[in-house]
Amino acid sequence: MDAADPLARFRDGFNFPRAKDGNACIYFCGHSLGLQPKSVRSSLDEVMREWADLAVDGHFHASRPWIHYHQLLARKIAPLIGAEPLETVVMNTLTVNLHLMMASFYRPTTQRHQILIERGAFPSDQYAVKSQIRFHGFDPEASLVELSPRPGESCLRDEDIVSVIDREGDSIALILMGGLNYVTGQVFDLASITKAGHRKGCRVGFDLAHSAGNVPLRLHDWGPDFAAWCNYKYLNGGPGCVGGCFVHQRHAHAGDLPRFAGWWGHDEARRFEMPPDFQPMAGAEGWQVSNLPILALAPLRASLEMFVEAGMERLRAKSVSLTAYAEFLLSQRPSPRFEIVTPPEPERRGAQLSIRIRHQGRKFCDKLAVAGVIGDWREPDIFRVAPVPLYNSFTDVYRFAETFFQVLPKE
Ligand SMILES: Cc1ncc(COP(=O)(O)O)c(C=O)c1O
Repeated sequence: MDAADPLARFRDGFNFPRAKDGNACIYFCGHSLGLQPKSVRSSLDEVMREWADLAVDGHFHASRPWIHYHQLLARKIAPLIGAEPLETVVMNTLTVNLHLMMASFYRPTTQRHQILIERGAFPSDQYAVKSQIRFHGFDPEASLVELSPRPGESCLRDEDIVSVIDREGDSIALILMGGLNYVTGQVFDLASITKAGHRKGCRVGFDLAHSAGNVPLRLHDWGPDFAAWCNYKYLNGGPGCVGGCFVHQRHAHAGDLPRFAGWWGHDEARRFEMPPDFQPMAGAEGWQVSNLPILALAPLRASLEMFVEAGMERLRAKSVSLTAYAEFLLSQRPSPRFEIVTPPEPERRGAQLSIRIRHQGRKFCDKLAVAGVIGDWREPDIFRVAPVPLYNSFTDVYRFAETFFQVLPKE
């Protein structure tokens, strides 16, 4: 499989952490922080050099003028998430963007004040939605609706999500779900959630932290009102990298939507006339607040170039095989000591497998790390691994499985 892999050459473009024996680790943690592309250094050097040589003139006269730098990146990300460039902006970080989106799209009234979220959503999202509910004078006890799996099940059923929306939708102001649950690795059916939500008059937004650059997305066609994601996981933009935001085209000219404004969201053509009143740019860029941290964007530029070259379709095809291979190898040696909780259907998962490890705790993950396999642990019992198609190989998956069974205690 590795010999026939059209994407195999991209592996050499990344720096891998080293294990104790000096060999490259089997890095299966791209769902948390993607590896560093080697090309990041020259991308950063370019900005450093031009800052030194041009100083303020770099805004307009750098080889990639800083004033438009973020737009170069948004144009590369848009096709990865199935969006139009007008709908895509690179700015801030994920939770900040969720708040900015909620400022516009969570407008609770006494009849319609609830936010629907999945139970066990990423904590930052839970804190964000609860704080928004309180900010508007409501109580999370009454205004937060959480979706839970059926008793004895780990994942939500798509039909259960839609039936909660059908049942409770009249009082739901906003549906805000992960595109892919960070603990279980389950991919949600974003098209039907959006459809069901809009049918009931709810606003719909998604946290795509674990979806962007991982699974196919068609945001424009599916039609959610907004989405936000981070660029440091599958998109390899570096720790704390600037995030991204999608606002559907139907809101592109909704200048009257309430929002928290700043000068970078002001009509670009007149921004430097410094007028006192805010005129938002059309599209997602109208939600920008501040000018962009170019040094933090330079690594993302390097990384996105690799992504565009590899192509999302080819990446997804390899990802489906890699994940299936990992699942196949684990299922060859069943044991009561572990269970894969990620759904088995390829369309309901991405690169990630979440494995429930019984009676071991975090030390299981630590032992694998010592043996050179980097996954991560989510309390109380989930070991997560992500064979990432851009830089992992089928041999990595094989070696991971061998090490997994060496570390897993025998019956
Ligand atoms: C699903 C999800 N949402 C939100 C966040 C928070 O991201 P940030 O620190 O960029 O706001 C993360 C971070 O890993 C995440 O995985």
